[in-house]
Amino acid sequence: MNIMAPRSHPLETVPAGEADMIERVVALQIAMMKGVNPKKRGQHPKHQALVRGRFEVGDDVPAPLKAGIFARPGAYDAAVRISTGPMPRDNDPNPHAFAIKLVDVPDSPSGTQDFILLDQPTFFIADIAEYVGFFEDAIKDPSASGFFKAHPRQFGLNLTFNVVIASQLERQYWSEVPIAMGEGAARLTLIPEVDNVSGRDPASTPDGLRDALEEHFVENRKPARFALAAQAYVDQSITPIEDATSVWPTAFEKVASLTLPAQDFTSDAQFAFGEHLSYTPWHCLPAHQPIGGIQRARKRIYEESQKLRHETNGVEDREPTKADLERLGAFL
Ligand code: HEM
Repeated sequence: MNIMAPRSHPLETVPAGEADMIERVVALQIAMMKGVNPKKRGQHPKHQALVRGRFEVGDDVPAPLKAGIFARPGAYDAAVRISTGPMPRDNDPNPHAFAIKLVDVPDSPSGTQDFILLDQPTFFIADIAEYVGFFEDAIKDPSASGFFKAHPRQFGLNLTFNVVIASQLERQYWSEVPIAMGEGAARLTLIPEVDNVSGRDPASTPDGLRDALEEHFVENRKPARFALAAQAYVDQSITPIEDATSVWPTAFEKVASLTLPAQDFTSDAQFAFGEHLSYTPWHCLPAHQPIGGIQRARKRIYEESQKLRHETNGVEDREPTKADLERLGAFL
C-alpha cells in the first residue's frame, strides 16, 4: 500500500525518544488486538454502515485554507464508514465515528484522501508520551473505574463526552488533531444539515443506530448532507500543534460539502467491503500531511493494525477506486 512518506513540517516539534515510544504503542496495540479479535479494528470496531457519497469543493474557500484538495473547485466520490466505539450496544454511551475516503484523487500516493472524524471536539490524550502511560495502565487494569482513577483529566476529556444518540447523521464530528494545509495547518469539523435530523429518541435498543441509518437512507429514501469546515492554525500559543487536548479558539470556515444520496447499504457484500477498508490520516495529498505527535504515531499504529487485520482475514489491502464504489450498486 502506498502511504505518504513523512517529511519534516515547519510547524512540528518532535520530542526526543518519540520513535521508540511509538513502537511501544504499536506493540501494545497489536497485543491488545490479538487478545480480543485480530479480525476486527481494536478501536471503533462496530461497523454501522459503509455509504457512498459525493464530496464537492466550491470556488469560495477562504485564502488561508486554499491548499491541497481545497485549492481549487472539484468533485470526488467518497466511501464513508460510519462506526461506533468500544460499547457494542448502541443504547450505551459511546463515541461515534465518521470516516470519509475520497477516491481517485490525483497526486495522492495512495490515490485517496481520508478525513477521520469523531463526535468529540478534542482528543483526550495530549501526546504520545502521555498515551504510553495511559495505555500501559489500561492494560494493567482494564476496568474503566480502575485505570481512569489514575488519569482523572483523561476521564473528563473522554468518558464524560460519551453519550447515547438518536442518529449518526445528526451529529457534528471533528478531526481533533491537525493536518497540514500546505505550509499552514488546520483542524476540521463536519457539520450536519438540519434536514438530517431524524426526530427519533436516543437509541433504546442495541442496534438502534443502524436502524436509524436504514430508516433514513432506505425506508425514507432521504439523502444526508454535511458541510466540512476548517479552522486555520494561527501560532503555537493560540493553536498548539503538539497538544491534541488543546481547544483551538479560531473560527471554522466552510471548505467543502458532502452529500450521501438515498441508498441501500444493507447487503452483506457492502458490509464486508466497509469492514475491510483501511482508513488512515496518512492516505493523503502531500499538502495535507498529518502533523503533531498523535498524528505521527497514527502512521505506524494504523499500518500495523491494518496489516494484522488483513492478514488474519485473508484479504488484500488495497485502496478502492471509483469503479469499486460503482460496483456497490446504484443510488435509490
Ligand atoms: C495515538 C492515538 C490513536 C491511536 C493509538 C489510534 C488507534 C486506532 C486504531 C488502531 C484504529 C483501527 C485502524 C484499522 O485497523 O483500520 C483506529 C481507528 C479509528 N480512529 Fe484512531 N487512534 C488514535 C487517534 C485518533 C484520533 C485523534 C482520532 C480522531 C478523530 C481517531 C479516530 C479514529 C476513527 C474514527 C477510527 C475508525 C476509522 C475507520 O472507520 O476505519 N483516532 N484508531
